[in-house]
Amino acid sequence: MCQTVFKSVVLILDFGSQYTQLIARRVREIGVYCEIVDAHVMENDECLKHLSIQAIILSGGPESTIAQHAPTVPEWIFQINKPILGVCYGMQVMALRFGGKISQGALHEFGEATLKLKSESALWGNESSFQPKEHTVWMSHGDQIIDIPEDFKLIASTENCPFAAISHQSKPWYGLQFHPEVTHTLEGIQWLTHFVVDIAGCEKNWMPDSIIAKLIEQIRKKVGSSQVLLGLSGGVDSSVLAALLHRAIGDQLVCVFVDNGLLRLHEAENVLSQFKTHMGLRVVHVDASNAFLEALEGISDPELKRKVIGQQFIDIFEQEALKLKQVTWLAQGTIYPDVIESAGSQTGKAHVIKSHHNVGGLPSHMTLNLIEPLRLLFKDEVRKIGLKLKLPDHLVYRHPFPGPGLSVRILGEVKYQYILLLRQVDAIFMEELQKADLYYKVNQAFAVFLPIKSVGVVGDARLYSYVVSLRAVETIDFMTARWAHLPYEFLSRVSSRIMNEVHDIARVTYDISDKPPATIEWE
Ligand code: XMP
Repeated sequence: MCQTVFKSVVLILDFGSQYTQLIARRVREIGVYCEIVDAHVMENDECLKHLSIQAIILSGGPESTIAQHAPTVPEWIFQINKPILGVCYGMQVMALRFGGKISQGALHEFGEATLKLKSESALWGNESSFQPKEHTVWMSHGDQIIDIPEDFKLIASTENCPFAAISHQSKPWYGLQFHPEVTHTLEGIQWLTHFVVDIAGCEKNWMPDSIIAKLIEQIRKKVGSSQVLLGLSGGVDSSVLAALLHRAIGDQLVCVFVDNGLLRLHEAENVLSQFKTHMGLRVVHVDASNAFLEALEGISDPELKRKVIGQQFIDIFEQEALKLKQVTWLAQGTIYPDVIESAGSQTGKAHVIKSHHNVGGLPSHMTLNLIEPLRLLFKDEVRKIGLKLKLPDHLVYRHPFPGPGLSVRILGEVKYQYILLLRQVDAIFMEELQKADLYYKVNQAFAVFLPIKSVGVVGDARLYSYVVSLRAVETIDFMTARWAHLPYEFLSRVSSRIMNEVHDIARVTYDISDKPPATIEWE
């Protein structure tokens, strides 16, 4: 499904590189709106109908351009007379199309290289005062060009890659073997700016204020005077969406906040006071903790727990939606990485490690229309919009919290007593992280409850009780993560507070597993 924010767009044709999203983020950081589409997109594709393409970027990709059935570049992009930038695979596939030659695997290059500029170019932004300077760039390729097409010229080389940058003799078409989107390429953002702003003439209008104005206009146009239902979880995406919808349609928005009994200490009160009391939103508070706990009774398999919780959410949500007779729209806080990942996972090649469900997902038989105003935004953009909408920093920059809540942080069967203990432990850990100014230095932190018993000694008495593990990770995309090297003194302080203040915890451990091979959550 296509839904665009601005009409004018830089189109990124995705050949499957792990860096494609990074290209999009960089272009948007420059202030220019861009969208990622499949590399085989047809000119008359429904998606492109509403867009005015300003420039095209061809991404890198894992294949070899000269392998059998390697993805090719669609012909129409060369006919629309727009600037083109090919990156890595994108450069090679363009060169191949015009008669260049590629060599397979002769000289692999992974990591930093020194780029020597050979000729002036609008891409370097120095057409009138060219100097053959050297720059650090990031390479990641097996194949490379060994002969460029006749109509192209060489504009930069590295020691191992003679054709590291090329440009067309007369058209604004460029190719880079290195990755300008990666921060190791120190001038990368400058060169991308030259491409999208100076060469393609794109307007720098991708700023929080203009995004908000555009989204509000679209929301109003779409829903008219109808009512919109939003499942508010208190997480960043649903919170920002609530604030945005409220700004757009005021009281036509009805939020449903389901307390599933698996939330952190005071979480329900905090969400309600923020949105209902301070921001004046209509929030229906459904206390379904008993229903969730009953449904989870006797279940210890993590995937089954997730399924049971997902189903409970849907049931409760449906019941609430039925009561709200005026509602015809359901809003979801889907964001761009979800859209890209679900498009990618349609190939069915990915293994299911954990079935993350989108809380408040739309049951197929519900008759509500779906509205997803954030579906083209990256997380950092959602956050910027949240701040502009005056959501407090602590809400906008909070760590992610899984939909199934504490149930996946209590190993095995979930019991009320375990929830109470885990809440206290988690609250101490969070409080100390904040106090030590470490909360925002890690990307996710939490405690895990282990329903096993260990021996301890309190005063002169023997204690035989439960174990908790603290977990803190540093990560950019949550796909890989490094365990956070928190200071020993800090861990020691947290551990001693937990042992002193939470009765029934006999031992505190710290998880030092990276992802992979571990995952971030324990279940
Ligand atoms: P894992 O454990 O897969 O976690 O390394 C990656 C990120 O996803 C979050 N997570 C979930 N989020 N429902 C969610 O909404 C889930 O079932 C779920 N499981 C994990 C996790 O907290 C981390 O941020």
